[in-house]
Amino acid sequence: MLPRSSGVFEPIKETHMIGLSPAMTQLKKEIEIVAGSDLNVLIGGETGTGKELVAKAIHQGSPRAVNPLVYLNCAALPETVAESELFGHVKGAFTGAIHDRPGKFELADKGTLFLDEIGELPLSLQAKLLRVLQYGDLQRVGEDKALTVDVRIIAATNMDMRKAVTEGKFRADLYHRLSVFPLFVPSLQERRDDIVLLAGYFCEKCRIKFGLSTIALSPAARALLETASWPGNVRELEHAIYRAVIIAQAESRSGEIVLLPQHFSLEGETPADPAPGTAPTAPLTSLPIRSLAEATRQFQYDYIRYVYENSGKVWAKTARQLEIDPGNLHRLARKLGLK
Ligand SMILES: Nc1ncnc2c1ncn2[C@@H]1O[C@H](COP(=O)(O)OP(=O)(O)OP(=O)(O)O)[C@@H](O)[C@H]1O
Ligand SMILES: [Mg+2]
Repeated sequence: MLPRSSGVFEPIKETHMIGLSPAMTQLKKEIEIVAGSDLNVLIGGETGTGKELVAKAIHQGSPRAVNPLVYLNCAALPETVAESELFGHVKGAFTGAIHDRPGKFELADKGTLFLDEIGELPLSLQAKLLRVLQYGDLQRVGEDKALTVDVRIIAATNMDMRKAVTEGKFRADLYHRLSVFPLFVPSLQERRDDIVLLAGYFCEKCRIKFGLSTIALSPAARALLETASWPGNVRELEHAIYRAVIIAQAESRSGEIVLLPQHFSLEGETPADPAPGTAPTAPLTSLPIRSLAEATRQFQYDYIRYVYENSGKVWAKTARQLEIDPGNLHRLARKLGLK
């Protein structure tokens, strides 16, 4: 039995994928079909649409569900450690390699390897990944002996992969191997019928989490949510509900919460075409008074999202523009709930 690392998902009993719109009903059908097969899957879709949730659902619905689902974010991998992360290394392979260490592929043996943000995988590693997919064998860094693994790949990206292939950023042969069964998760704009359902689901999650007796959406708040543009999709909706509940709770004396339009600060939506070089800033007079820590957090959230949207939604480029290490950006973005 191979050791589990922090990259292995906790076992999940159920994957709640909310949505009854025609687009989601179709996606659920496709998930069911592909889960039972052993094909590699490429999941596309905008940020926050639920690609990771889809990956978990596919693994859970597959015969591999009794084995691990291992997660690897390709955007958070500095090129120097990427090969060792994927394929492992032996003691003494490089400075700092003080023990033998299995890579994610070995950890995912007989299970599934979820390669998130696959479009960010450096070209040099794309060739190595292709080899493993073709022959099922790999070598730990510093080892001559080959190991055989049986791994199903589920990859996800919010990039236009065909464009990346045309531009020479992604190998065509690897793209074809990965996208044997492509799935596309629609944006919230394309399934507006699901907004209220999702909002209700997140309200219920909040109610349980905060031990409240009821959380209701006022008709005006409901209309606001239904017409908002949601560039951050389901994740943005989830966070908007959480924030609104916290604000409403601070105002309410009982455990009964009614969410009103003023509890939502959807002005965080960046305009479609911001003037080049200008970041969105709210006039200071319109800002709510809160702790410096919370205000800083909100600014980081808005500003990183702004730079990300303006760098073609490429995390590596965002890190370069912000002049911070991609790994640190990845961690910060996760902490802020941007990823
Ligand atoms: N259909 C859904 N039902 C319930 N929750 C959902 C649904 N879709 C997404 N979510 C929730 O929204 C959040 C974002 O989803 P997820 O992390 O899967 O998005 P993603 O497409 O991987 O985003 P990114 O491209 O930024 O990595 C998660 O908390 C997830 O549980
Ligand atoms: Mg994701």
